[in-house]
Amino acid sequence: MKRIAMTAAALALVFGASASRAADVAAGADPQLVQRGAYLARAGDCIACHTTAGGKPFAGGLALATPIGTVYSSNITPDKAHGIGDYTLADFDQALRHGVRKDGVSLYPAMPYPSYAKLQPADVQALYAYFMHGVAAQPTPNRAVGIPWPLSMRWPLRVWRAKFAPAVAPSAPQPAAADQVARGRYLVEGLGHCGACHTPRGVTLQEKSLTDSSSDFLAGAIVDGYLANNLRGDVRDGLGAWSEQDIVQFLKSGRNGHSAAFGGMADVVANSTQHLSDADLHAIASYLKTLKPVQAGQTAPAYSNATYQALRTGADKSEGALDFLNNCAACHRTSGKGYKETFPTLALSPTVNANDPSSLISIVLQGGAMPGTTTAPTEFAMPAFGARLSDAEVASVLTFVRGSWGNHAPAVTASMVAKIRKALPKKTADGATPEPQR
Ligand code: HEC
Ligand code: HEC
Ligand code: HEC
Repeated sequence: MKRIAMTAAALALVFGASASRAADVAAGADPQLVQRGAYLARAGDCIACHTTAGGKPFAGGLALATPIGTVYSSNITPDKAHGIGDYTLADFDQALRHGVRKDGVSLYPAMPYPSYAKLQPADVQALYAYFMHGVAAQPTPNRAVGIPWPLSMRWPLRVWRAKFAPAVAPSAPQPAAADQVARGRYLVEGLGHCGACHTPRGVTLQEKSLTDSSSDFLAGAIVDGYLANNLRGDVRDGLGAWSEQDIVQFLKSGRNGHSAAFGGMADVVANSTQHLSDADLHAIASYLKTLKPVQAGQTAPAYSNATYQALRTGADKSEGALDFLNNCAACHRTSGKGYKETFPTLALSPTVNANDPSSLISIVLQGGAMPGTTTAPTEFAMPAFGARLSDAEVASVLTFVRGSWGNHAPAVTASMVAKIRKALPKKTADGATPEPQR
């Protein structure tokens, strides 16, 4: 703390730095700037990757599974030996927006710097102020990557960066508060890094598009066995049937009349979006509503009462219908409509109607719990059926769900279920489930 109290000139002497660097440090102590940085760190969800379950905030060490091996997040607390306490604003910016560590080595794109490249310098500065002055230093050493040689060599990442990481955004005035769509685009493409999960990736793991210039952007992608849905305007499997208010409510409370957050999205809501201001949530929602559908001319599914009748009268004796009655109907009801904001509807849900059934299989095998949020604290949960239902039973109940109440999506096969079951996180020797990998 002494360091902050020193004058800029004294700092320059002590650290041999330029006066402007010293001024940066001094400016970093501005409480308003630190507070703004804390808000931006929420919007960027830095904590999700830089903190282990039960670990100290931002001390790093979380394992991130990538197709080539395990990458561990870094200690980004202001600890001088193990964290980023020695980073200047310029060093911090190099890591955050350019993907280059202080020692010049390239970072793995498990750190979403291709999205953070969109950040305006003023926001980088606020984040820097927060990480230097608003975060407690933790002496936690960084862990080495678990990627086998030769893929562990970092120099090819330079090539990757040159090819796929976008140029850092030129400085521009922040969009006026009144320009909601521009503000929403800035948050979604940039700090929110929504595309890191929701945009499909190419063979060399780059997001197919980092901006809305292509309809691949936010078109849906698989993350840890879940489908991070299509967030474009498609009416069957995208957000076409959601109003702006529906999107705001989902991001703020983790649930709405269409769905509830689960898988990786439950953490995004808990750690990040529930903390955003209503103005920023409306900006995100109004921007998402401008995204054209992937497939023009999808027809919106319409609710049909036939399934309800067949289940009530016992006319449907198929295995899928019986499995649904025995395992699911108590919560999701024979009408398929569930109980609003308690047990989500399965009728007409974009998750249920997506072509790729990964999310459905994963939630049935593993169960789920809604994130508890300030506006909706109850973590309504769904039990795991992995031990109770066979691959064939999961397939038949989901095929039933996908063809009922007006839903219209392809059948689920036992081999699809087997594949996802095999990839589930294994219990460790001491019986604890390993920390979820994001
Ligand atoms: C999706 C996961 C993820 C998110 C979100 C994320 N990071 Fe990272 N970050 C990583 C990983 C993984 C590394 C280490 C990469 C490597 O070793 O190549 C890293 C590295 C860094 C580094 C470099 C540290 C060093 O040793 O030089 C900084 C600085 C950093 N992150 C800051 C941030 C900030 C600030 C945010 C929020 C705005 C953030 N990160 C959000 C995964 C993430
Ligand atoms: C760590 C990965 C991850 C990130 C980052 C992420 N999402 Fe998600 N998102 C998911 C997954 C997985 C689902 C599917 C599960 C669900 O519906 O909750 C999902 C679902 C959603 C849904 C519900 C869609 C539906 O049809 O039910 C919305 C809306 C959404 N995300 C918006 C966003 C926005 C906006 C951002 C950026 C601020 C974002 N997500 C960032 C993983 C992510
Ligand atoms: C005890 C009540 C309960 C039972 C029984 C139950 N569910 Fe759920 N279900 C929930 C809750 C609560 C959620 C939200 C979980 C979350 O957000 O993590 C949910 C979410 C879902 C979703 C995601 C819907 C969306 O769009 O958000 C699907 C699909 C689903 N359940 C299918 C099933 C199937 C199939 C069965 C039977 C095999 C079943 N559920 C049994 C309570 C239940």
